Amino acid sequence: MKKRTWMCVMVACVMLLATACGASGDSPEGSGANEKLVVGFAQIGQESGWRDAETASIQFYAGQNLDTIDLKFADAQQKQENQIKAIKSFIEMDVDVIGLAPVVETGWDAVFTEAKDAGIPIVLVDRMAAVDESLYATFIGSDFIEEGKNAAIEMSALLGGSGKIVQLEGTVGASAANDRKKGFEDEIAANHPGIEIVASQTGDFTRAKGKEVMESFLKTYGNEIKGIYGHNDDMALGAIEAIKEAGLKPGSDVVVVSVDGVKGIFEAMAAGEANVTIECNPLLGPQFFQACQTLKDGGTVEKWIKSEEGIFRADTAAADLPNRKY
Ligand code: AHR
Repeated sequence: MKKRTWMCVMVACVMLLATACGASGDSPEGSGANEKLVVGFAQIGQESGWRDAETASIQFYAGQNLDTIDLKFADAQQKQENQIKAIKSFIEMDVDVIGLAPVVETGWDAVFTEAKDAGIPIVLVDRMAAVDESLYATFIGSDFIEEGKNAAIEMSALLGGSGKIVQLEGTVGASAANDRKKGFEDEIAANHPGIEIVASQTGDFTRAKGKEVMESFLKTYGNEIKGIYGHNDDMALGAIEAIKEAGLKPGSDVVVVSVDGVKGIFEAMAAGEANVTIECNPLLGPQFFQACQTLKDGGTVEKWIKSEEGIFRADTAAADLPNRKY
């Protein structure tokens, strides 16, 4: 009797265990599936070659690690409201970490607070958000102020310290535009009194708008313009087209300094149509997922994981080109 009772207890225990496993969704072949790092990433859109390279870096890394990473990717088509919607849906999905390249700096407090309340860390990728430090885990990206400052030093050197120039700004309200403008203008004001910024307008980080705005600058100032500073290479490439169509020579009549380091600007520099690019690294996929994994594991990450970048000039562009990865 005693033996039979003991057997029954054993069978009941095994059945209970099996039921418990089924309820949690585990299966022999699926075991570990729940251990995947689940990340939601809200990308800005596709405004530039640089951004396409960043998207590719993130998607490629996730694609190479399908057994350990589950990436939910949203393209916000340049709209903050779409990024906010994406973040809210990632919160509903209960992802492990949310990644975001904020299209503009402000307006994130409410949705970041929702993520924080849900216990989901936010990782800012390439652009900053103007929120309290407690609302995000880390920022992975460049020092945009430094980039602007370096662009000003290069511009002044190219013009021998004097000349009228124009500025093509990035998306209004974006940290990359705000800080590249500040870094550039502060450096000019402090150390290059002969350089005069006669016009400055947004080209929204796109080649098409860069060209359009440069056309209007050329209509107003014609060959008085001796230099153009683009907050990104794509706008500078658009400006180069406008300069050529106006019968001037980009790279000599009008010097061209911009930020990013995409292949297109290296080709323009090699052809003598652009002068300097200040590098900004978009290949952030590996660092991004490493930070996400550390956060999921309960570890800590640096508040700013800074990119290391260089300055590239026309004289080495042809030799540099084969080594460029984006
Ligand atoms: O935030 C980085 C900037 O955004 C890049 O310079 C630009 O090309 C992009 O679209």
